[in-house]
Amino acid sequence: MADTAARLHALTRHGSPVDRSQLVTFRPLDPANRPAPFKRYPDQPIVALPTDFGRSNEAAAVVLAGQVRRDPLTLDAGVLARLLFFTGGVTRVSHPAGGHDPTWFRAAMSAGNLHPVEVYVVCAGLGEVAAGVHHFAPLEMGLTTLRDGDHRELLAAATGAPEVAAAPCSLVLTGVPFRTAWKYGERGYRHLFWDAGSMLGNLLALAEAAGLPARVYVGFVDRDIAELVGVDGVEELPLAVVTIGHRDDRAPAMAAAERVARLDLTTTPVAPQPIHFPLIQEAHDDGRLTNKDAVAAWRAAAASLGLPAPDELEVPADAGTEPLEDVIVRRGSTRLMRPDPVPPELLTWGTGVAGRAVPGDFTAPGHTLVQHFLAVHAVEGVEPGAYRWHARRFEQRRSGKHRDLTSRLCLDQPLGGDAAFTAFHTADLEGLLATLGSRGYRAAQLEAGIVAERLALAAFTLGAGATGLTFYDELVSQFFATPTQCLLVTAVGVPAYRNRPGGSPGAPAELAHYDQLMVRLASRLRGRS
Ligand SMILES: Cc1cc2nc3c(=O)[nH]c(=O)nc-3n(C[C@H](O)[C@H](O)[C@H](O)COP(=O)(O)O)c2cc1C
Repeated sequence: MADTAARLHALTRHGSPVDRSQLVTFRPLDPANRPAPFKRYPDQPIVALPTDFGRSNEAAAVVLAGQVRRDPLTLDAGVLARLLFFTGGVTRVSHPAGGHDPTWFRAAMSAGNLHPVEVYVVCAGLGEVAAGVHHFAPLEMGLTTLRDGDHRELLAAATGAPEVAAAPCSLVLTGVPFRTAWKYGERGYRHLFWDAGSMLGNLLALAEAAGLPARVYVGFVDRDIAELVGVDGVEELPLAVVTIGHRDDRAPAMAAAERVARLDLTTTPVAPQPIHFPLIQEAHDDGRLTNKDAVAAWRAAAASLGLPAPDELEVPADAGTEPLEDVIVRRGSTRLMRPDPVPPELLTWGTGVAGRAVPGDFTAPGHTLVQHFLAVHAVEGVEPGAYRWHARRFEQRRSGKHRDLTSRLCLDQPLGGDAAFTAFHTADLEGLLATLGSRGYRAAQLEAGIVAERLALAAFTLGAGATGLTFYDELVSQFFATPTQCLLVTAVGVPAYRNRPGGSPGAPAELAHYDQLMVRLASRLRGRS
């Protein structure tokens, strides 16, 4: 693997000897240099989105199985607000003792709860939301307009995909490296895509629930997307473009040839003294596409990649009818699990939901870059052991209950071993990077984030709990005897406490005992190490 992303991957492995001289030395989690949790434009107004947007009324189980059959909703301001809130909105808050700043939690999971991903809307007029380029303000649940007018042709040109202009709305996801590198250093580059992916896990499901087609683009001219949403490609990096909906009556839009004027809007600083991590920049730049021919070539190469993935699944008989949006706000990372058994559907259906094909430009249609290996500890009727999920079947690799070993694989975190099963999402990074270069790395990590969030939603739909977990890279490959590399881990099991559901826009649920729970967790971790 000669690409810089491969170098970053190797240098950011947990548990393997790495040449630290190639990494920046810094103080992780330096309280004096804490990043601001939200991007703000202090001189621009935030216009409130509607908050009475209701629910789709599609059962989560039906949506996650890909079985929604309905006419598409009209993508108006209310539907846009619903998509944004359940993708990136603030759902919970914890006010720590001692009058410190509150900790905000959002609809999708995020490593370290650091939420490095920003969301921009590029749309035609959607009722109360005027045509323009807007930034989503999660806490205020509103939009800051950055550009007036319909810019969809420009977005389509930058994405090298004419059909982008036919979507009434697209979201551009960007990542602020320092918001996550503050804790994780260069490994934070992976987190940008995991966290964007977890948001997309929600977004794709919400779009399905609304009957709206959605498609994820990883291929685009980086500079043009960055210019359109007014980011510099250093402090903030474009990650993905997602189209939502389709309209035959393409509104008159700006000519693609027109370059956008430079945006010169004041934004709040990322942190008191953001640290630059050159390896992150190099890995990202190495995957950069500089013109539409490069985008077309990259996309053509991607179109032959991947393993077949299911499009649709059956809905488990006792999955209930709870609407998708309610499951999303109920989800919260399970912090403590009881080592109790779970029904087999949680394993079989959950893995199927996680492994469903993602509509996107980075694989062949109906294919996936991600493979799934499972450490099964307590699933009724399933022999404990290590499995690979392949072609909708579980192939056993080892037998025996390996709770301690699984916990070890998950950076010695008890959750990995207490779970009923722990899923290790991997990819053949070597093969992928040989074909798609450093940009293929972006795609694989993004898909892993989607997979993890989907598995978590499937778990909550069936009454269980789940959390994303980090891992010792090489140990995972060794344990499952796979040449693939681990991208992300999801532990699924029985929560040891009742999770408080998230709230609504402007009224996040208060997590009263969150700091105590985290102290309990930390002491458990210390006890193990
Ligand atoms: C990529 C990723 C990795 C994560 N890794 C861990 C982990 O190693 N240990 C852990 O306890 N939680 C982990 N989490 C869960 C986050 O800590 C959690 O999502 C975050 O605190 C926000 O809380 P919420 O999910 O309840 O909204 C991870 C989440 C993601 C998306």
